[in-house]
Amino acid sequence: MHILVTGGAGYIGSHTCLELINSGYQVVVVDNLDNSKEESLRRVERITGGSIEFHKLDLLNIEPLDALFSQRRFDAVIHFAGLKAVSESVQAPLRYYHNNITGTLNLCNAMCRHGIRNFVFSSSATVYGDPEAVPIREDAPLKTTNPYGRTKLVIEDILKDLHVSDSRWNIVLLRYFNPVGAHEGGEIGEDPNDVPNNLFPYITQVGIGKLDKLLVFGGDYPTIDGTGVRDYIHVVDLAIGHIRAMEKLKTGPGLAVYNLGTGVGYSVLQVITAFEETTQVAIPYEIVGRRPGDVAVCYAEPGLAEKELGWRAQRGLKQMCADGWRWQKNNPDGFR
Ligand code: NAD
Ligand code: UD1
Repeated sequence: MHILVTGGAGYIGSHTCLELINSGYQVVVVDNLDNSKEESLRRVERITGGSIEFHKLDLLNIEPLDALFSQRRFDAVIHFAGLKAVSESVQAPLRYYHNNITGTLNLCNAMCRHGIRNFVFSSSATVYGDPEAVPIREDAPLKTTNPYGRTKLVIEDILKDLHVSDSRWNIVLLRYFNPVGAHEGGEIGEDPNDVPNNLFPYITQVGIGKLDKLLVFGGDYPTIDGTGVRDYIHVVDLAIGHIRAMEKLKTGPGLAVYNLGTGVGYSVLQVITAFEETTQVAIPYEIVGRRPGDVAVCYAEPGLAEKELGWRAQRGLKQMCADGWRWQKNNPDGFR
């Protein structure tokens, strides 16, 4: 089967390309390389011994996208391409709305024109906002607090409307919790352009001495130790979730929504301890005020994905730490 992967050079996309190739799929990637390097794909080729056809292409440019659909017959599309930094989305909302929503509209229009109706979309636990209850089920109320999150909610609605308008569409919406870690070989991983916003890459950069200390945002949440609790999921488990979603598409599911999380929450201090114990590297930290927009506790009810996709996360927190650290240590400057 031929799969088009948008944003495939990025963090989750590159790990998913690796699993797709290992599962026997033919992979074509489009990416504008706004937040990634083509080198990630070359490394996936090295690891798998397979090949990836790459097109440097922006989803905002309709013509080259359409030309690609004319040249290739895709069986399905996995859509990762998008901008993802919450604080940047507050500063530049129009850029986020345009890139994420217009890019998705262009992609769906091209798919309509060429009769391709199998789609997997990268959504996020951010669509649950500040959850009323944990673990969070897929039917929990949807609300979000920032432009990035609103792009995910709007795109989910666009895809639901598309399915209502034409029931031949098969669409799987995957709501990721907190993807971390890296492939065990240490050759591909997360490669933030600037100072990381997210906890894991911040910790690994403190570990290699690029950053002095971690600021822990908030020590007074109603949690086990006062720090925020999240559902960290190994990026390889997440990538394998996409393989299960591809298999689901083949059964003609219509529109389906799944959480991809472990169902277990860890606090910031528990993550620091796990990292230190696994790597024997000390992480100096200071507890400071809460980060605006943060929620206290967020973790998934992953049972639906287990029941309907036969998928369950296999890798624990220590493996996330060990694999993320191996990538960072081997590649202090990422793919550069
Ligand atoms: P990433 O930035 O590493 O990958 C996204 C890729 O999309 C990048 O390679 C970027 O260059 C590309 N891209 C962006 N806009 C494009 C456009 N207009 N045309 C072509 N390519 C474009 O991010 P990631 O962490 O791999 O995330 C992948 C997807 O998963 C995103 O949609 C993100 O919102 C979603 N997601 C990520 C997380 C997370 O914590 N990483 C959590 C939930 C959801
Ligand atoms: C953030 C985004 C969310 C997005 C997710 C994955 C915000 C408000 N939310 O979620 O929309 O889907 O990333 O990309 O940005 N922490 C620190 N110090 C740091 C960094 C983080 O203490 O330097 C804490 C946070 O307060 C939180 C936890 O670590 O309790 C995880 O933070 P992070 O990795 O940024 O993920 P989320 O906040 O869950």
